[in-house]
Amino acid sequence: MTSPAAASEQIVREFWRLMASNDFFSVGVLLTDDFVLEWPQSDERICGRDRFALMNADYPSNGRWFFVVNRIVGGESEAVSDVSITDGVQNARAISFFSIVGGKIARLVEYWPEPTPAPENRKHLTEKIVGLFPILLLASALLVSAEPAHADEGPPAWAYPINPPDFKPPTDDGSPRHVPDSDASYTLSQVRDLFSAPDWHPGDHPPMPKVVSKGREPEVQACGFCHRADGPGGPENARLAGLPAAYIVQQMADFKSGARNNSSSQRLPTAMMIALSKAITPAEVDAAAAYFSALKPRPVMRVVETAMVPKTAVTSWHLSVVESGGREPLAGRIIEVPEDRQQFVSRDARARFIAYVPVGSIRRGESLASTGGNGKTVACGGCHGADLRGLGAIPGIAGRSPSYVVRQLYDFKHGARAGIAGAPMLPTVANLTMDDMISLAAYAASLSP
Ligand code: HEC
Ligand code: HEC
Repeated sequence: MTSPAAASEQIVREFWRLMASNDFFSVGVLLTDDFVLEWPQSDERICGRDRFALMNADYPSNGRWFFVVNRIVGGESEAVSDVSITDGVQNARAISFFSIVGGKIARLVEYWPEPTPAPENRKHLTEKIVGLFPILLLASALLVSAEPAHADEGPPAWAYPINPPDFKPPTDDGSPRHVPDSDASYTLSQVRDLFSAPDWHPGDHPPMPKVVSKGREPEVQACGFCHRADGPGGPENARLAGLPAAYIVQQMADFKSGARNNSSSQRLPTAMMIALSKAITPAEVDAAAAYFSALKPRPVMRVVETAMVPKTAVTSWHLSVVESGGREPLAGRIIEVPEDRQQFVSRDARARFIAYVPVGSIRRGESLASTGGNGKTVACGGCHGADLRGLGAIPGIAGRSPSYVVRQLYDFKHGARAGIAGAPMLPTVANLTMDDMISLAAYAASLSP
């Protein structure tokens, strides 16, 4: 028999499943006749299932709403959920307290927390929460199991960009958008549809399988939406073109089991990748793996060694040059930006990138990669192929987004990427400093894929 706590949890899970259908009236079956929703932060109360549905349907959005359930805790007649919400552009998090009466939701009290910077005056007592995603962190309920990285070495913000809380995407004015060398046109809403991959250059690739072009509603977003139609990816996700099929299948399994995560708790794209890995079928994984592995990656990266860089800001989980201009010191970072931001946000798979890297880092990386740096690391070519373009089921790292590569090295080192198949990487990363990771990523990015 199901315990009352498990039953409450089940009702809340069903609530979020129906919300994810975006048919907010369908949620009514779970609500009592005298259902009340309260938002204490804005002092608002909404009474009845119809107003609840209308309020959700009328809320300004850039497309379909998508929900990632981070955690649900069920009690006898109450339950709490922690859910991340996005329409592909706006992002929010809701902590919701449900009161359950006779198998239905009678009352919902909801808080919408906003991230705040850590105050200086208590920094001596705190450390960054890194190495674990909040799902795992909270599910374990034991903060002690989180193994924080050394305080001086949190995940670097430039490699794990987080949208600022006040980030407001432009609204769609309905006008058709264009990109170079394509007759296609899409509106802003169309290029933001999580269930459709814009296909600006159909001649560049064989027909996409459905899981790549459309995904499967409501839980599997189109691979091609995030990774682009023929898989170049962007700095906010990963290149899939040309990865070995067996490797893709393995990564999907690792995302699903929790073995692969990332070191920043607030990177929604990764949370969405993990969520869809749990809903996808083996046949869909095979179709996507066969499609992406057969594609030849094209060079998209220009690597520039420099001391000064254009000022950047985070937009949609990646860095872009700010319109107000200005320059600033690179200061031991990699700054990776789209060459043509409009082309990139239109999801043109031919978009190109500039990576600004520290002076001397490419040669330093080459030396580390080819010699192992006197035992500091292990020469990469033995496993990744002499040209670093991959070997057997081991992925290529040549010509890839250097911010992605730094994230992976950091995630391996700090335990966020812990799949069994990745064990050979552990001795490689154990003694790497952030400067080493930057040099290796700069060198790999400078090679032809
Ligand atoms: C919501 C955006 C999104 C969608 C949709 C998406 N992914 Fe991803 N994917 C990501 C992100 C983000 C990462 C991880 C980047 C990181 O670790 O920094 C990723 C990583 C991957 C990787 C690992 C790549 C590597 O080199 O290790 C694979 C494989 C992958 N995705 C396959 C897929 C497939 C197959 C689909 C479609 C069924 C898909 N993804 C849909 C965002 C997405
Ligand atoms: C002993 C073999 C071995 C050596 C040496 C090695 N790697 Fe790897 N590497 C792997 C394997 C295996 C994977 C795939 C891990 C997995 O399945 O999660 C991998 C994955 C990676 C990835 C993630 C790729 C992706 O698509 O997400 C990066 C980045 C990487 N290695 C960088 C390096 C660098 C840089 C070096 C040299 C300093 C290096 N590796 C040396 C075996 C190795």
